[in-house]
Amino acid sequence: MTVEVSTTSRDLARLDELIAEQERIFLGRQPRSRALLERAGRSLAGGVTSNWQIARPQAVWISHGRGSRIFDVDGGEYVDLHGGYGAMAVGHAHPAVVAAVSERVARGTHFAQPTEDAIVVAEDLARRFGMPQWRFANSGTEATMDAVHLMRAITGRPKIVKVEGAYHGHHDSVQVSVYPSPDEIGPATRPTSVPASAGIPAAMVELAVITPFNNLQVLEAILEAERGQIAGMLLEPVMMNAGVIPPEPGYLAGLRELTRRHGILLAFDEVKTGLTVGPGGATARYGVRPDILCLAKSMGGGLSTAAIGGTAEVMEEISSGRYEQVGTFNGNPLGMAAARAALTEVLTDDAYARFDRLRELMVAGCEAAIREHELPAHVVAIGAKGAVTFSPTPVRDFREFLGIDDRWSHCHWLFQHNGGVFLPPWGKAEQWLVSAQHTEDDVNRFVDNFRAFAAAVRG
Ligand SMILES: Cc1ncc(COP(=O)(O)O)c(C=O)c1O
Repeated sequence: MTVEVSTTSRDLARLDELIAEQERIFLGRQPRSRALLERAGRSLAGGVTSNWQIARPQAVWISHGRGSRIFDVDGGEYVDLHGGYGAMAVGHAHPAVVAAVSERVARGTHFAQPTEDAIVVAEDLARRFGMPQWRFANSGTEATMDAVHLMRAITGRPKIVKVEGAYHGHHDSVQVSVYPSPDEIGPATRPTSVPASAGIPAAMVELAVITPFNNLQVLEAILEAERGQIAGMLLEPVMMNAGVIPPEPGYLAGLRELTRRHGILLAFDEVKTGLTVGPGGATARYGVRPDILCLAKSMGGGLSTAAIGGTAEVMEEISSGRYEQVGTFNGNPLGMAAARAALTEVLTDDAYARFDRLRELMVAGCEAAIREHELPAHVVAIGAKGAVTFSPTPVRDFREFLGIDDRWSHCHWLFQHNGGVFLPPWGKAEQWLVSAQHTEDDVNRFVDNFRAFAAAVRG
């Protein structure tokens, strides 16, 4: 028999109480971070280096990282499941990455000419993802920007289809309907395109046609309505900026068929999923090959490197010079050295077997606590990534995700933090990342904290 449990007003009152208590503990542990934040406020906008570092109750300033752990400036030690927003699947200061980068740094770090490591990295990515040709860039934003430009260049059409609630970086074309509020989103059968930030021109917003995840019917109607206007569709094959929302069986294959039938391109944004949900990302895991594939984050071994892979036909647009895929730091030798070490020495079959082992422990531990305390939650985890989603039933798109009360994930985050586990600070939107250097002790600490949180809320 299944027990249907959902959030009660008593839960919310208890969460408010616990959040206040845990934030007091958190701030009491972070006096030096507080002092740095005050100083930083005078020279850094908002006191941080990216708006996503602004966190409640305050940003935590880091001193260093080693293996699976990071250390804050107040001497706090954490099991790191934040992983620098999913970039650190190799873990911190991995000896192979340290050796590769140290060797490279002593021989010069930038020439704007190719180095041999770039070939090794491209060959490794071709093998993993089944895409024959590659180019490099420096961030996920640049990779998805190239993907959108390529789709427009090849088809000569202006619009792209983008999934509601998906984040693909901060360039104009994709800063649309990233985290729109319920009063802005419009009908589910034809979602409204909503600018995600100030400074996005209305003309760009109109060029992004919004569709719900996991819904082929709505997509087909949109493609019919926009016939002749759409260059391609960009999506994360597993949504990873709304917790973790996996594709339903047949969804990706259906997308592949629909996009072919409508003569539009399909680009997978595997910036988060790429090297983490499996050795060949979601592309290999689900067996659906896009025309263009974007990577960043964990492919760089901790340095800012990104990649765009494509079919021979797509990449001919670059080789021929019709589309200018350029950048001073593209294929930067330091980034390529780190990526080579990450791909060929760290993210090996052993690492993926470790991810599987540790994920099973995390999922089983959380599920047991959820059952015991009848929490309105479930766990979604794939490869090295996972999240507790505070909904009693599976979430299949952004609109369902929007209904989840943020207090659950914030309170959970505080319990983990005060208990020595660093999760990404953006609550329900983010996921954990396990690295190739995490151990059973590390994930046991996470499960213990989760148990303590569950008992405190429902106890
Ligand atoms: C799916 C996805 N695509 C693209 C990006 C942008 O990457 P970057 O922050 O390296 O520009 C992100 C960043 O979080 C992301 O999650």
